[in-house]
Amino acid sequence: METYDFYKNPSILIQGAMESETEYLIGQLAQKACVKYGNWSFYTGFLGESKSPVIISRTFQGMVNAAAATTLALTHFSPRAVINQGIAGGHDSTFYRGDIVLGTRAVPMGAMIRPFAKKGEGICESDFTPLGIEVFRKSKGKTEKVLDFPCDDRLLAAAEHTAKDYLAAEEALMKKKAVCKRTRKIEAGVLGSADEWNNQFDRIVLLRERYKTTTEDMESAAVAQLCDSYGIPFLGIRIISNSIVTGEELDESVAEDCQRYVIRVVENVAGNFGTIK
Ligand code: 5AD
Repeated sequence: METYDFYKNPSILIQGAMESETEYLIGQLAQKACVKYGNWSFYTGFLGESKSPVIISRTFQGMVNAAAATTLALTHFSPRAVINQGIAGGHDSTFYRGDIVLGTRAVPMGAMIRPFAKKGEGICESDFTPLGIEVFRKSKGKTEKVLDFPCDDRLLAAAEHTAKDYLAAEEALMKKKAVCKRTRKIEAGVLGSADEWNNQFDRIVLLRERYKTTTEDMESAAVAQLCDSYGIPFLGIRIISNSIVTGEELDESVAEDCQRYVIRVVENVAGNFGTIK
């Protein structure tokens, strides 16, 4: 363990944009070490009972920051899988604050094309369709245009498998916090991302209609795009911290609940994505 080389050996890259989304994970690392590339810090160490080798990356907020931090991590380290996690806004009224959404795919909901309109014809906010983004697929050696980016089936299955145990184990703690209106749930959904924070009810309904989003955040799709391009398994995990559609205001404290869950997911996938004995 002492001589584990994170540059050559498998690890899981776990990302969070803000301090509140990463500090619990960093605090749980055994044999923690920090390395900086450019403006971004990467914490290497071993996580959970499985002592899984992981790299915790604080990406900062937004699509460009997330993409930069991901590129640096993929260039310098050897992650076998990437988990992007943190808080999100709800788009689906069946998900309440404190619920966790496991990405089936991540969609860049800022990507849109608008039809032509003559001078003076005005602007119609709802006049757009999702726009395909060019992604270089390393496996095919060429670019393709896609509307969204997949999450890895195996990672998703492991996360779904972890959900029941986590909810049972943490039930008492969660009840005490009273963040959620009812017993929390962890279910699959579509993660929408853009450099946007939407607060208009009707706009959120429109985005959900066009992009099929369950949540909105500002990083998942950027990371998913790069993982898709490089052929690295990706999973986005988002906890609802605010929701216009359920009328719940921001509670950033749920960021820690998400990190606690992520540790359990990592323990579950450790065997498949690199572990140390
Ligand atoms: N809209 C967009 N991003 C959100 N985040 C939490 N809630 C929302 C929301 N409603 C996340 C983003 C970003 C930070 C502001 O929190 O991913 O990193």
